[in-house]
Amino acid sequence: MKTKFIVIGTGNRGVGCFAKGLLGFPGKGRPEFRDHAELAALVDTNLTRGRTAAKECKLPDLPIFRTVAEAQSAVHADWCIITTPDNTHCQIATQALEAGLNVMIDKPLATSVWECDKIIATMNRTGRKVLVGHNLRYMDGTVQAAQMVRDGVIGQVLLVEAAEILELNHGGSYFQRWHSDFSKSAGLMNHKGCHYLDLLCWILDDQPVEVSSFGERSFYVPKPDLNHAERCLDCQLKTTCPHYYDMDRYDGVFRRLYKDSEGEDGYVTDRCVFSDRHTINDHESLNIRFARGTLASFCLNTFSPRSHSYFYFTGTKGRLELGHSSVDGKPYLRLVRPDKTVQNIDLAADKGDHGHDDADVLLIADMLGLPGSLPIQKAQPWEARRAVMIADMSSRSISAGGRPVKAEETGHDYPPAPPKK
Ligand SMILES: NC(=O)c1ccc[n+]([C@@H]2O[C@H](COP(=O)([O-])OP(=O)(O)OC[C@H]3O[C@@H](n4cnc5c(N)ncnc54)[C@H](O)[C@@H]3O)[C@@H](O)[C@H]2O)c1
Repeated sequence: MKTKFIVIGTGNRGVGCFAKGLLGFPGKGRPEFRDHAELAALVDTNLTRGRTAAKECKLPDLPIFRTVAEAQSAVHADWCIITTPDNTHCQIATQALEAGLNVMIDKPLATSVWECDKIIATMNRTGRKVLVGHNLRYMDGTVQAAQMVRDGVIGQVLLVEAAEILELNHGGSYFQRWHSDFSKSAGLMNHKGCHYLDLLCWILDDQPVEVSSFGERSFYVPKPDLNHAERCLDCQLKTTCPHYYDMDRYDGVFRRLYKDSEGEDGYVTDRCVFSDRHTINDHESLNIRFARGTLASFCLNTFSPRSHSYFYFTGTKGRLELGHSSVDGKPYLRLVRPDKTVQNIDLAADKGDHGHDDADVLLIADMLGLPGSLPIQKAQPWEARRAVMIADMSSRSISAGGRPVKAEETGHDYPPAPPKK
C-alpha cells in the first residue's frame, strides 16, 4: 500500500525537493518512489503559489488547502512534510500531529528550544512520529565520520575545529528573503548553522551543555553609493553584482513559483542584500562545551569569495578531517594517525545532479522505509533539538556580550535577536 503525503509550503524546498522527489522526477527522486508514495494534497497560505506548484508537479488537479487541518480532513494522509519558514514549524507540526499525521519537518526543527519541547511533547502525547530533514547525515563522508568516531578510531575526541564558509551568492541569498528577519529564522546560526551543528552533535554522539559566542553584521549593511534598486529584477547592477538573484534560472521555475504569486501576499524573493531591514548577524564565532568534555569551535561566514566547510576532530588516538574543499568543492575525509601517516578515505560523492550529493534522495528513501541507510541517519526530534539548542544558547550569549550560557537557560522563551548597534 502507498503512503499518502501532504506537502506543506510550496516554495523551492517543498516543490523542488520533496513533492518532485516523491513523484520520482529525474534528478529529484527515484522512479520506484511512485510505487511507495502518493502525493495527496498541497498546503500553502498563498493559494496562487500552491496552484502553480501543482502544475510544476504535473498534477494540475491536486487539491490545495490553506491549512494542514483542512487538508487532512479532506484527504486522510499518513505523513506530512513541513517546508515553511522556520518560525512556523512548531505551530504547523503540532496541528498536524493533533490531526493524526506523522510529520517530517525540514531543518531546523524550530526557532527555540521551548518550541522543540512543545513538538516533542505533542509527538509523545499523540503517539505519532516526527523526523527532521537533516539531509547532510546522508552524505557518504558524514556517515563514515560518524561511524569512525563512534567506533573509537581516533579515541576520545577532545577538540573540534569547524566552520561553514559561504560564497557571496549563497551567503547573500539569506539576506534577500525572510531569513534575515530574526523572528522568522532565529538567525543564521539556527537556520543555516543547524546543518553543521546537528552533524557535530551527531558525529560526537554527545549533548551540548554550554556555549559562548560573538557575532556581528558588517557586510550586508546599507551601501547607498552602489546606486542599487530595491530588488534584483529592477537593478542596473544585475550583470556585475555577485548577489544577483536570477528569477529565470532553472527554466524560470522561480519566476513562476514566486514572482507570479507576489500579488497574493507580497512575498518578494530578490530583495537587495544591502539594506537596513536585517535583524540577524552575517558572521558568528562560537565555542561549545559538550557533556563528555569535548570542546568545539564553529564559525559561520556568509561573505567569502569561495564556499567550503570543515570539521577537524582531534582525539587521544589521532585526527579525523572531514570537509568540502575550497579549491574544487569536492568532499574529503582523511585519518591522520599518531605516527603522522595520512589515510584518504574513499567517498561515494558527486553522483550526478541529485540534491546535496544525493543526500535528499536518500533522505526521502529512508522516510519511505526503503533500504540503503543506517538507523543512525534518521534525525529524531530530540537529536535535532541539540542544534537548535546551540543556536539558542549562542543568541543569548551574543546578547550578553559573549557570556557563557548554559543549556538550562533555554527552554522557557525565545532567544533574543542580536542587539542593535
Ligand atoms: N534541508 C535543506 O537542505 C534545506 C534547504 C533549504 C531550505 N530548507 C528549509 O525548508 C523550509 C522552506 O524553505 P524554502 O526556501 O522552500 O522557503 P520558501 O519561502 O521558498 O517557501 C515557503 C513556503 O511556505 C509558505 N508558507 C509560509 N507560511 C506558511 C504557513 N503558515 N502555512 C502554510 N504555508 C506557509 C510560503 O507561502 C511559501 O510558499 C525552511 O524551513 C528551510 O529552513 C531546508
